[in-house]
Amino acid sequence: MTSTAKAHTNIAFIKYWGKKNQQLNLPTTSSLSLTLDKFYTKTTVTIDDTLSTDVLYLNNQKVDATRVHQFLDVLRDELGYFPTLKINSYNHVPTSAGLASSASAFAALTGAVVQELGLHLDTCTLSRLARRGSGSASRSFFGHFAVWHAGIDNDSSFAESLHAPAMPIALVVAEVSSQQKKVGSTEGMQRALTSPDYGNWVNNSQQQFIDMQSAVMAADIEKIGTIAEANAMSMHDLNLTATQHPFTYFTAETQRILQIVDDLKHQGLLAFATMDAGPNVKIITHVEHAQLIIQTLNNALPNLKLEIAQSGPDISYE
Ligand code: PMV
Repeated sequence: MTSTAKAHTNIAFIKYWGKKNQQLNLPTTSSLSLTLDKFYTKTTVTIDDTLSTDVLYLNNQKVDATRVHQFLDVLRDELGYFPTLKINSYNHVPTSAGLASSASAFAALTGAVVQELGLHLDTCTLSRLARRGSGSASRSFFGHFAVWHAGIDNDSSFAESLHAPAMPIALVVAEVSSQQKKVGSTEGMQRALTSPDYGNWVNNSQQQFIDMQSAVMAADIEKIGTIAEANAMSMHDLNLTATQHPFTYFTAETQRILQIVDDLKHQGLLAFATMDAGPNVKIITHVEHAQLIIQTLNNALPNLKLEIAQSGPDISYE
């Protein structure tokens, strides 16, 4: 038998940026995201007990990913023994889009493994399992908007759908080329925790999480964007104010894009920036404003790679 799952990436509008338990990937705050239609991972899993160890192919190339092997050990702990697996994973997250693929990758892997084992688990349980591979993967099972409840332990930390109304929201993804050495999300979070502003950030984020849910349920794109931008920028301030190894993901090009987003906003367009563990900027907007934003960015920065994404679906199986 063979099982295939397809999970889409998600972008957090209220960020996860800090772990209260590193081994379990328990976050310090709850987060909220939009799943994207354009970018996804499709993973096929086959039980193959002739193999001496699990084998992983990524985009048709055999890889030795320690993180995936460790995650499969976690799944064996949680689900009970299962034989060795052959895993084929295809990322339809173009590297040119500069989007993190770990969210869609660990969600698709979890879904495909559980299906291959013939288990019938509810989506919140799948979310809880995928969280152990990558925190943001907990949110990639759900289409449209999802919330990840921080919880207090392994059982209570999982994501679920927000059941939000449909809305004409779009995300313009601007890929910034970077020579900068990347600080991985786990490392970045550890450094951010040393910021004297971290406690304040947690408190503000809790309020923003509540306000964001109201904005999403009201399909108020302007409010969604305003809160998301404030949340993201304060997350990046933590990196700068860390007392141990302060750093930034911003480059000169990032700053330039943020300036343009600000100008567009003052011209009356819906344009709000959010950023993750890298220099790329994602601009939250109305679908009808997306082309104008692309044109403006293209005129100012002709080499910038730009994509438009909209709300994406739930995980699906074949
Ligand atoms: O899931 P991780 O460990 O890759 O962390 C994701 C962190 C951010 O993308 C910056 C924020 C988020 O909530 O997705």
